[in-house]
Amino acid sequence: MTRTLRAPVIAGNWKMHKSPDEAREFLAAFLEAHPEGDRAILFFPPAISVEAAVHAAAERGDVRVGVQNIHWEDEGAFTGEVSAGMAHDTGAQVVLVGHSERRHVFGETDEETGRKVAAALRHGLDVMLCVGETIEQRRAERVDEVILAQLDAGLAEVGTDVLDRISIAYEPVWAIGTGETATPEDASAAHGTLRRRLGQKYGGDAGSSVPLLYGGSVKPENARELLSAPDVDGVLVGGASLDPDSFARIAAAVRRGG
Ligand code: PGA
Repeated sequence: MTRTLRAPVIAGNWKMHKSPDEAREFLAAFLEAHPEGDRAILFFPPAISVEAAVHAAAERGDVRVGVQNIHWEDEGAFTGEVSAGMAHDTGAQVVLVGHSERRHVFGETDEETGRKVAAALRHGLDVMLCVGETIEQRRAERVDEVILAQLDAGLAEVGTDVLDRISIAYEPVWAIGTGETATPEDASAAHGTLRRRLGQKYGGDAGSSVPLLYGGSVKPENARELLSAPDVDGVLVGGASLDPDSFARIAAAVRRGG
């Protein structure tokens, strides 16, 4: 199943970078460098900068802002955490769930990702679920097993009726922030595996409508090739999303033949 004709989703994950002032400054520069077009542009600033980013991008129908993480409970004694409802209240429209740094630095489990996805949907946030294998898992030829387990757990409580609020980011852990990028063939293979499972779970048509993004050292120099790969519907960009010009170049990358 190949979906190269769909308009790409270009997402920037700022991680723990950019204060509210810096978010405003970035967006002023980026919005000028990237005129409104057919691409869906998404930013994930730190929670404290979400409101500033929402205001800075308010005039642009092609730009949405999300949060990088939520807690699954609605409220309570969880110092340092933010709930889905609170994130939604700041103007966030999407949440990243299961980013590899959440999984590997903060010990988030597959089961917790499922609870976070359910909480997000309950409170009006769309979800970008991240999955990806470590280098050891890749060497042991366990890529499909790992990413399918992450997919199944993350979507455990997601029915067909809300599937249009879900996107999946395949981010091999060994490619994140390392300068190493999966080849377009590797990305397509993993995306094909995810697409087939979505088809099995939700029916062929439903499965094929979920956007699948690739992430891991995406840069202006490799964005076009990755976006041209079969089953790659967009990119999730970390380091190269921090500079407005570099992110604008990625957002403008034209697909081969498109
Ligand atoms: P990177 O990060 O582009 O810096 O590799 C990607 C991500 O973590 O989403």
